[in-house]
Amino acid sequence: MQKSDRLDPDKMLTGLKTKRIGSKIVVLESAASTNDIAAEYAKDKTNEGLAIFAEEQTAGRGRGANRWYSDKADSLIVSIVLSEEKLNTETLSLTSAIATAEAISDTAKIKWPNDVIMNNKKVAGILLELKPNRKGFSYILGIGINCHQKAGSFPAELQNAATSIDIENGSFIDRNILAKRLLTSIDHWLETAKQNTEEVIERWRQLSIQLGHRIKLVFDGKSYCGNCIGVDPQKGLVLQLEAGGVRMFDAAHTSIAG
Ligand code: BTN
Repeated sequence: MQKSDRLDPDKMLTGLKTKRIGSKIVVLESAASTNDIAAEYAKDKTNEGLAIFAEEQTAGRGRGANRWYSDKADSLIVSIVLSEEKLNTETLSLTSAIATAEAISDTAKIKWPNDVIMNNKKVAGILLELKPNRKGFSYILGIGINCHQKAGSFPAELQNAATSIDIENGSFIDRNILAKRLLTSIDHWLETAKQNTEEVIERWRQLSIQLGHRIKLVFDGKSYCGNCIGVDPQKGLVLQLEAGGVRMFDAAHTSIAG
């Protein structure tokens, strides 16, 4: 029999012990993009930490010009309102990737800036956006996690690049349990980042698939190549360039090639 893990706010809230994240939980049957709906909620200051989930998105966005596709009930799709977040964008981006990877699996890794990887394939993506609110700007943290996709579910061009938790674990992940783990992990890492950025950097180094490897990237339309020697909490990925010198690349202007 096909198992069901319909998203249910009561199941997510039962036993949830977060300080801020998941302060309110909204579940939608369908949304164009949960990031856009979260941006509307962000205009009300009582919605700090609100998490909006959807069973499906009809116009899910990825980074840059990319779309984010998933069939109904196959993924965990969520956007979180962070209007009072004081962390800078680079640190928040690193922190979100760590928190998402830890919620997914002990074996999940990070590909800077926003991919979570299992078995060398992408299992989750993060879209961090700044949206205007009444007081200024809110961060909207959008996360898409592949859960129930099967090997043949992905479009041909993604077959070798994408995976799901069910494929990697060989068992069914309950999305309500995963949602609770994700909210808890984000809450924990945001608090940690506020107190100790070094711990974030250290954890990123442990989880990174790029550290110590040759990276090709495009920054503001120009290609660069070098050895990844770390990450800077303000300035982004640090490369020892093959052309000479050390340079940092911020997430907003950089795309990793290949
Ligand atoms: C990427 O890998 O390029 C980022 C993908 C982010 C997808 C999530 S799903 C929830 C939120 N709503 C969106 O439209 N996008 C993000």
